[in-house]
Amino acid sequence: MPDHYHKPHVLIMSEITVDGKLTLKKGASSKILMKYMDPETDLLLHKTRAEYDAIMVGSNTIKIDNSFLTVRHVEGISPLRVIPNSHADIPLDSNVLKGDAPTLIVVSEKAPKERVEAIKKTGAEVIVVGENHIDLPLLLNVLFEDYGVSKLMVEGGPTLNHFMFQYHLVDEIRLIHLPLIVGGADTPSLVGGMHIESEDDMFRLSLKSHYLCGSNLVTEYDVIYGD
Ligand SMILES: NC(=O)c1ccc[n+]([C@@H]2O[C@H](COP(=O)([O-])OP(=O)(O)OC[C@H]3O[C@@H](n4cnc5c(N)ncnc54)[C@H](OP(=O)(O)O)[C@@H]3O)[C@@H](O)[C@H]2O)c1
Repeated sequence: MPDHYHKPHVLIMSEITVDGKLTLKKGASSKILMKYMDPETDLLLHKTRAEYDAIMVGSNTIKIDNSFLTVRHVEGISPLRVIPNSHADIPLDSNVLKGDAPTLIVVSEKAPKERVEAIKKTGAEVIVVGENHIDLPLLLNVLFEDYGVSKLMVEGGPTLNHFMFQYHLVDEIRLIHLPLIVGGADTPSLVGGMHIESEDDMFRLSLKSHYLCGSNLVTEYDVIYGD
């Protein structure tokens, strides 16, 4: 990255089974597994949201989970909701478009104009960042420079997490470990789409904290990049 490049501090927070999965099976909502989170951990999730300036999830998570991404179970202000969605194809009745917190839909130059207009009519802001796909490094710079986002929380899914890692944009990971095993070779795991050639390509983490939150183990890691 050039010297003048600035981006928010990025935390990926996720609930995860013992076998590293994020959902019951491919295409299933993570809300099914979230029911098994200790109520205290649910509070931790909402408290963390309240501490961050913005929260980002992938468009497929919006389509499958229909997430709200608001602060509900603790006092606090809901962060700006950021959804990378190159083709502006999230459903217009998505909960993130219902106006209970500010929402930024990030599209590419390929997004159909009528879809962009329809999303704007819901009250959400739409910005273009990228030609075909969303340019995530540029988006993070725009969030930092134009939206005053110095702390960004990412709540998945695996494809977005993968691209965030690919561009070395993730600083920290916080995992809520669910005492469950779901299996399934194609069940979404924390980071999808990554096929590394050798151990040199592994992302290395440094464990900085582990604790019980209610009955759930929580672990926190810093990401260490060799660059
Ligand atoms: N347990 C948990 O904590 C948790 C959290 C969240 C989600 N989930 C689960 O994860 C599943 C959905 O995950 P998913 O992996 O299918 O989708 P996803 O990560 O939610 O969505 C894919 C995202 O990646 C973007 N993308 C694709 N190609 C890209 C590229 N080349 N450059 C930049 N961005 C790119 C997509 O943007 P476009 O719209 O432009 O394609 C989209 O925003 C659901 O089952 C959900 O329940 C679990």
